[in-house]
Amino acid sequence: MQIKKAVIPAAGFGTRFLPFTKASAKELLPIIDRPALDYIVREAIDSGIKEILIIISPLKEEIKKYFGRNIELEEFLTERKNFEALDLIKPYEGVKIEYVIQYEQLGLGHAILHAKEFTKDEPFAVLLGDDIFYSDTKPATKELIEVFNKYDGHILSTMTVALENTNRYGICMPKPNQKGPVFELLSIVEKPDPSEAPSQIATNGRYILKPSIYKYLEVQEKGTGGEIQLTDAILNSMEEEKVFSYDVKAKRYDVGSKEGYVHATIDFALRRDDLREHILKIIKELNTLL
Ligand code: G1P
Repeated sequence: MQIKKAVIPAAGFGTRFLPFTKASAKELLPIIDRPALDYIVREAIDSGIKEILIIISPLKEEIKKYFGRNIELEEFLTERKNFEALDLIKPYEGVKIEYVIQYEQLGLGHAILHAKEFTKDEPFAVLLGDDIFYSDTKPATKELIEVFNKYDGHILSTMTVALENTNRYGICMPKPNQKGPVFELLSIVEKPDPSEAPSQIATNGRYILKPSIYKYLEVQEKGTGGEIQLTDAILNSMEEEKVFSYDVKAKRYDVGSKEGYVHATIDFALRRDDLREHILKIIKELNTLL
């Protein structure tokens, strides 16, 4: 079955980015001049997806505003024949963005449950807002879709993390004796202590899920951090679904952390013709001070 729909949870409080997130959505923090969330929406579109659901909290109506039209601004730019700027604010053609409000922040699993009406009985992509991927060849979600087209099951994007960081991720345990690059999983656990981690293979924010996941999310009890975890529902769904992991080739940035956010900003600036030289100059100057 083709993947036509994407779900982007964006309802968290964003406590790691306080005080900014007191009044603004973390997902609208710009990486240079484009909100982090917009890079994620573009990744979905570039992966061939035309229907996107963004799960927001009641405080995040501004996300709708960002992806909607601003007629006054369009008119202003048209009058001044500023077509370059006009091009930047045009809504995505042929793409439908919908919203659902998550009133209580009970965890990622609880958030995904809000997508049931939208995805119905189709498999769908999940793109987490804290993880931004860059690729000049194939978007991360497209890589996963290609895996999904060959393997029947949920597909999780993964990467290898340092042992001391296993308590920040969903950690996979592959079945033994597999060659890869796609691994069938035996088990998965949310944020295990390094002493208990079954591996260093961590999920990193992109999933293709089959609709059977809802059955498990609906009855999923709170887990790590007192939250309803997607990881736990994936584990429980293994009684009927296969689950596969795949290390995507696209480069990932954890923009939910301050270091990752700054790293992404620098790297994205260096990739832009209008900024590269200026930023390199600043970096060179800084280098002489080190
Ligand atoms: C979430 C998931 C976790 C996953 C991570 C990837 O955690 O619960 O399994 O590994 O995203 O970024 P969070 O970072 O939202 O706490």
